[in-house]
Amino acid sequence: MHNIENHIDLMIDFLSKKKNPVILEFGVERGSSTKKFVDFAEKNSGQVFSVDITDCSKVSNSKSWKFLQSNDLNVDYVLDQFYEIKKYGVDLIFIDSYHEAQHVQKLISLYFAYLRQDGAIFVDDIDSLPFRLKKNIWNSIVYDLTLDSVKEFYYNNTENCSLKIFFNHKENGLAMIYKKNKFGFEPKKVNKIWNYNILIKILYPYLRRLSKLFKSIHK
Ligand SMILES: C[S@@+](CC[C@H](N)C(=O)[O-])C[C@H]1O[C@@H](n2cnc3c(N)ncnc32)[C@H](O)[C@@H]1O
Repeated sequence: MHNIENHIDLMIDFLSKKKNPVILEFGVERGSSTKKFVDFAEKNSGQVFSVDITDCSKVSNSKSWKFLQSNDLNVDYVLDQFYEIKKYGVDLIFIDSYHEAQHVQKLISLYFAYLRQDGAIFVDDIDSLPFRLKKNIWNSIVYDLTLDSVKEFYYNNTENCSLKIFFNHKENGLAMIYKKNKFGFEPKKVNKIWNYNILIKILYPYLRRLSKLFKSIHK
């Protein structure tokens, strides 16, 4: 039984229902997630494909692992190098590279088509609580905007996917976009969804109290 509080275990748990699981990972660094995916792939006749803008090729020498040094937004180059993904798709995409809302949303939009039916894109670091506890404003904003960008993709594609958010204060949260359509299905373009002015959200409790006060006076 995996500890589903832990992000990697949660993804491994998702993969455990797949036959010959294929994983595409963006962001390797020292290989903490990569090594766990590779270990799982080796035991389950799977394959892991990882992309990082820096050279992380020494992280593993497993036959179940392929590494590509590239900007992950270079979708044509990535898919030319990982032709198996272009042809047959993947079960799981893990986004843990450049933590910026627009970057994350572009990755989801670009690679969604290559996800197999019932596959999922997992996005790391979407909960700002750890930074808010440290009163770190910029990282709090970055994480909140990342969650907004994931929700915006979902709101434009409610028929094509479902969205689940895992909040875990120790690990900055994880979002799961679960694909309902077949491999090759292109998502809808992400358009801005109408939203109210956030100033009104701040003012709302005071306006409500004022309105109650007026009503009690005029009774
Ligand atoms: C948070 S680390 C990845 C951590 C890793 N998944 C783990 O669990 O240990 C982020 C990595 O993303 C890489 N990166 C940043 N921007 C990128 C981009 N545009 N394309 C590919 N990789 C990128 C960085 O070089 C860095 O190694």
